[in-house]
Amino acid sequence: MTRPPAEPVTHLDDGRFRVTEWRFAPGAETGWHVHGHDYVVVPLVDGTLLLEEPGGTSRKASLTRHVPYARRTGVEHNVVNDASEAMAFLEVEVLGDALQAARLACLERFAAAWNAHDVDALMACMAEDCAFHASAGPAADGRRHAGGDAVRAAYAAIFEQFPKAAWTQGEHRVAGDHGVSSWRFVGTDRQGATVEVDGCDLFTFAGERIALKDSYRKSRTA
Ligand code: NI
Repeated sequence: MTRPPAEPVTHLDDGRFRVTEWRFAPGAETGWHVHGHDYVVVPLVDGTLLLEEPGGTSRKASLTRHVPYARRTGVEHNVVNDASEAMAFLEVEVLGDALQAARLACLERFAAAWNAHDVDALMACMAEDCAFHASAGPAADGRRHAGGDAVRAAYAAIFEQFPKAAWTQGEHRVAGDHGVSSWRFVGTDRQGATVEVDGCDLFTFAGERIALKDSYRKSRTA
């Protein structure tokens, strides 16, 4: 038996939040879907829904008017109104996570590109208008490399200076327009000297890509 589709009505979709009212006639279903965002459900009436879940299981969920519940990205199910009354709820999705996730993925690709010694892959993570402030240099903020050409040259020079170089123990975080990566640099320079030092990058994003990489590292003493 085919079920009628539940009716979605979009009340708001501004890139940060999406609010959808789902209206279920008796017997209606959403169809199978995977939630791509964290979300909150606010029931508009009291009622019961049938949740069909992966693996062939199903369960009943009791919804109470105006009593919200929250779920995380990745929930997969088909939502069915198998009752004889109409059912409705508001679904509030937090879309901002998508940008944060894209930025985090950018930092992971960026770290992989350093370990691959791949300057093109590094530059693919950088915004058009980008800058790199190196950890060492003559100024209080290190050495500034501004613009794509200068940043590309500075990155290439690091691989030139350290034929063997790895960034291990990478950890990445993103908050708002900023990100942090911490790492342990392990390298051998052209003269055969080894360097092992912890450091971090403070990032500023433009869209999904890096506008500024501001580098810091420990100053080791004997
Ligand atoms: Ni759902």
